[in-house]
Amino acid sequence: MKAVIFDLDGVITDTAEYHFQAWGSLAEALSIPFDREFNEQLKGISRTESLDKILARGNLSNTFSEEGKQDLAVRKNTEYQRLISALTPADVLPGIQALLKELREAKIGIALASASKNAAFILDRLELAHYFDSVVDVTAIRNGKPDPEIFLAGAANLGVRPADCIGIEDAQAGIQAIKSAGMFAVGVGTPSQMQEADIVVATTAELSLSMLEEHFYEFKK
Ligand code: BG6
Ligand code: MG
Repeated sequence: MKAVIFDLDGVITDTAEYHFQAWGSLAEALSIPFDREFNEQLKGISRTESLDKILARGNLSNTFSEEGKQDLAVRKNTEYQRLISALTPADVLPGIQALLKELREAKIGIALASASKNAAFILDRLELAHYFDSVVDVTAIRNGKPDPEIFLAGAANLGVRPADCIGIEDAQAGIQAIKSAGMFAVGVGTPSQMQEADIVVATTAELSLSMLEEHFYEFKK
């Protein structure tokens, strides 16, 4: 186990909840039904893909021009940025800072593979940026999750083989991306949400270097 590649929203901090709220406000304004179950499909995928799925749900796919859709995406992002502007280090999810520290001390590579264009801002607000050897530049990624590209880029940036990496995700699309990359997948959530993960934890508080190593080497046997 040479590296751990983290998703951000819903793994490092609970911004998955803020994405949910911001999309929820937009959906409500457009009279499109929106709930947590549907929101699971939006986790891990880009802003524009999320908007397309929401509009399709409301049978509004052909209602907006490209410009109109762009305006809706900006509207969602403005609300989202309002919500994340108040983030502080206290918003780091349980166990994450301790894990990052342990990984650094053990000289295990640390990368971020987030689909969010707000990722760098959030890492700064959480005062975690210094732990990361690589933050994959999402604007250079052609194929979003569930494609493995972003996780493979993380491994390449760290100079390690995908098979020596663990990926941690809270999204179905993210777990699929990790598995397609040939990595060991840790899911944060319920077993039904994280069906393709190699192991599932209910909360990040369960994560530690020793538990990751134990499961990783057990899996490799
Ligand atoms: C992912 C989230 O991390 O980033 C998605 O899981 C979100 O919900 C995506 O849509 C894109 O984020 P942003 O901040 O660029 O709109
Ligand atoms: Mg996520």
